[in-house]
Amino acid sequence: MKKNKNDKVNICIVGAGYVGLVSGACLAEIGHRVVCVDSDPKKIAVLEKGVMPIYEEGLERVVKKNVKAKRLFFTNSIKDGMHHGGRRAEAIFIAVGTPPREDGSADLSAIEKVAEQIAHNLSDYTVIVEKSTVPVETCEWINKTVLRHNKNHIPFDVASNPEFLREGTAVGDFLKPDRVVLGCPSKQAEAVLRKIYKPMKSAVLVTDVKSAELIKHASNSFLSTKISFINAVANVCEKTGADIEAVAKGMGLDKRIGMSFLKAGIGFGGFCFPKDLEAFYWLSHRKGYDFELLKAVKAINESQKLWLVKKTEEELWNLEGKTVALLGLAFKPNTDDMRFAPSIDIIAELLKRGVKVRAYDPVSQNNAKKIIKGIYFAKDAYDCVTGADCVCLVTEWDEFAKLDLKKALALAKHPIMLDGRNLYAPARMRELGWTYKSVGRQ
Ligand SMILES: NC(=O)c1ccc[n+]([C@@H]2O[C@H](COP(=O)([O-])OP(=O)(O)OC[C@H]3O[C@@H](n4cnc5c(N)ncnc54)[C@H](O)[C@@H]3O)[C@@H](O)[C@H]2O)c1
Repeated sequence: MKKNKNDKVNICIVGAGYVGLVSGACLAEIGHRVVCVDSDPKKIAVLEKGVMPIYEEGLERVVKKNVKAKRLFFTNSIKDGMHHGGRRAEAIFIAVGTPPREDGSADLSAIEKVAEQIAHNLSDYTVIVEKSTVPVETCEWINKTVLRHNKNHIPFDVASNPEFLREGTAVGDFLKPDRVVLGCPSKQAEAVLRKIYKPMKSAVLVTDVKSAELIKHASNSFLSTKISFINAVANVCEKTGADIEAVAKGMGLDKRIGMSFLKAGIGFGGFCFPKDLEAFYWLSHRKGYDFELLKAVKAINESQKLWLVKKTEEELWNLEGKTVALLGLAFKPNTDDMRFAPSIDIIAELLKRGVKVRAYDPVSQNNAKKIIKGIYFAKDAYDCVTGADCVCLVTEWDEFAKLDLKKALALAKHPIMLDGRNLYAPARMRELGWTYKSVGRQ
């Protein structure tokens, strides 16, 4: 891409995780000079060696290309990130984690720490851009924090630029978003942000800061609602003999509804939907509005996560001492992220019932080993199903779609397959000899 020197913005991104690293690499890819900062020294050390700390399709290529082109740099220090190579960052994106607290509210302590450090290192007008998913009014708090520590009264703005990328397709999502939302407190901040996103030629929506913050929570909560809705309908299908795929198609062909997020299964997980739903409920409650719908969305998801456990009990009767094989551990395919994956709850429930669990995931296995104990991690899918009383499909990896189901059938102790993601065709499975159950299908 041929770029005019004046189009290039010096950017610092604090937090080099799923969002920060992808955003940094992609902003470098569209021509800017980006420094990614992370407080985790191991993460920066591996990145400097050209090794990706996360699994994300296409990320390694973009990172390596832009490091080589001297548009992408890594450091542990915010001070260095803000003045790297003698160049002052005109925009600093905050992309640190905002994990849930016990009560469901978002833990914003990492954001406060970063805001303080930014304040100490300001030297000229800078746009501080909140990219992490945060409750409305967080930018106000960042503003207050920076004012408090900004002893030299350097001018700054705090803008909101929520990120909508999805793990598994993050690079493509970042570079070709449906829209870029910019919550801008001033024309000056808007100009800097528009300049940053200009090369992407995507639709830009400029709003006030609070609306931008709310758009992210409202969007994720709406998508979670769609998933819980279709899962609730799937339960009705199971009880009435209707077929969820026909129902979802009939609904989705209506343009007002749309086909996306109407796939029944064992519920949503990951670092975004569960915590953002929880945080949105918590925020509304604190502001005096009881957003009861969100409580129902969560309750449906919690019970749907255990669909596989319920069906295992229905098929195997007493579970004590039985062997269950889980195909997949990640909350969705094409990611190694195990945060809030339904597999964690499923395994805990199976272990409580005395089940011997065997599991295999093509990519997230190493992350899973750090948090799941007391199960056998198999070498591959066939090793996983060997000797199993029942096989449960947890994640719809392509590798499992291509599984030799005849071979798997021969290796399992009993031909029982419970498909939590509706990956296989019921007629074909029965033809092969499997006792096959899936979500909302007959
Ligand atoms: N993961 C997603 O798909 C996704 C999508 C959209 C938005 N989000 C939101 O983006 C934010 C980040 O999510 P993530 O998945 O990238 O998290 P992550 O845990 O992968 O990355 C956060 C990074 O911030 C670093 N960090 C924490 N404190 C720091 C500090 N004081 N200084 C420098 N670095 C620090 C951590 O070491 C970590 O590498 C969250 O608010 C999340 O809700 C995530």
